[in-house]
Amino acid sequence: MTRGSITPSPGPSPVIRWGNWFPPEPAMNPSRREFSQTLFGSLVAFGLVETLWRRDLLADGVKPTIAAWLKDLVDMTADLRGKKLTDLEFQKKMEELYKKVDLAELVKLVKLDDVEKNKKLPDNGAGNYGIDFGKIQGLPADLKFGKQIFGCKKDRSIVPHGHANMCTGFIILKGEWHGKHYDRVETHKDHYVIKPTIDQRFKPGELSTISDHKDNVHWFKAVSDAAYIFNVHVIAYDPDVKDVSSRLYLDPDGEKLESGLIKAAKMSSEACHKKYG
Ligand SMILES: [Fe+2]
Repeated sequence: MTRGSITPSPGPSPVIRWGNWFPPEPAMNPSRREFSQTLFGSLVAFGLVETLWRRDLLADGVKPTIAAWLKDLVDMTADLRGKKLTDLEFQKKMEELYKKVDLAELVKLVKLDDVEKNKKLPDNGAGNYGIDFGKIQGLPADLKFGKQIFGCKKDRSIVPHGHANMCTGFIILKGEWHGKHYDRVETHKDHYVIKPTIDQRFKPGELSTISDHKDNVHWFKAVSDAAYIFNVHVIAYDPDVKDVSSRLYLDPDGEKLESGLIKAAKMSSEACHKKYG
């Protein structure tokens, strides 16, 4: 369908252009019948437009300003913490929001240029760089989510790890990455049982998310030099979960079990970075 445009006018029957279809313009001296037809046409068109807006068809491809984008993130974080959204619902909404971001504006907002200029990427693992948004008009000082940039040299990794009581999302800012995710299916004393879910190349603007219930383990290896990821994380969103929201390091290169499952030994950060960093 060709995308239409709406030209507001001060009168009761605005001109609505929808693709190549034009509703009847009002006549100079319409009869009652002509006037009714015109009004009916406009109302039908308004109904159509309203329906399409509701379905987000017109909004598709329209990038909100970066401040409006952040406001959505703040609102959905509050909904997650207030239990108006489950973690899976939050995860889905976060992915939808990430898809809408104006990447160039996000890169500017997080001052990636400064990070690249002033911070040295580590020889092992990922550099972790804090972000100060400053005070953004219309947003609270405490956003209730954490944010950071990860950066890696080529062939270095954000090593494989899972989380507990945490929702988080990655969006690639620069460079190419090979990203893998796994569901954490079982937790045992010395190992996890995990199931591969995502295994693909990620380019700038591409994204992935995790929650306790979907794609909980992630591992991103830079396949181009100076690769950067923007990360938002909502820690301890469920007060009923007693697990600490720290990283759960593991080895996905473990024994293959039935149904594609893997027995992934628990690791220390040091051992995990030695093998995968
Ligand atoms: Fe993580």
